[in-house]
Amino acid sequence: MNNSCVYPGSFDPITYGHLDIITRSAKIFDKVYVAILNNTQKKGAFPTEKRVEMIQKSCKHLDNIVIEVFDGLLVDYVRKVKSNVIIRGLRAVSDFEAEFQMSHINLQIAPDIETLFLSTLPKYSYISSSMVRELAYFKGDFSYFVPECIVEDIKQQYK
Ligand code: COA
Repeated sequence: MNNSCVYPGSFDPITYGHLDIITRSAKIFDKVYVAILNNTQKKGAFPTEKRVEMIQKSCKHLDNIVIEVFDGLLVDYVRKVKSNVIIRGLRAVSDFEAEFQMSHINLQIAPDIETLFLSTLPKYSYISSSMVRELAYFKGDFSYFVPECIVEDIKQQYK
């Protein structure tokens, strides 16, 4: 087992909230696997390759990040990369119920893998990817919520 963690999500697209969790995880662990779910049941707004590219651009300041796409069960991916920690961000109490359920299911099927929660900084607690997508769709200003280096990528997607 190595001193690594997996931060999974859709990242459709990455926001400052995600970046905050990635940056703080990268200070705790030697390596952070940012794992993008290739969800066959939910087609995202951005192709997975584009999401990888946007995370790469946003994480340029970090040298211990690996960005990968996974499908299937999260715990199988965690085992594949020889980690035993899943990181999730909690923005508000409303996130808690679903996260609590997910962490228990994962613990039940993979007792060797722990889920750790980091509380999102309050200034990012109201940000979500769908809100960014909606603002972009209606040509609103979403630049406060995502890293500056990907603003143009998002605009292009909604052109
Ligand atoms: N800052 C800002 N936004 C955040 C955030 C943070 N720190 N953390 C989560 N969010 C937002 C996301 O932007 C997203 O917003 P949206 O719904 O408006 O688009 C929302 O919270 C949820 O996104 P995310 O954290 O990416 O979770 P998800 O529900 O898309 O993905 C997986 C969750 C990938 C971890 C989960 O589906 C999974 O493990 N799937 C694999 C299958 C599996 O193993 N199933 C068994 C376990 S139950």
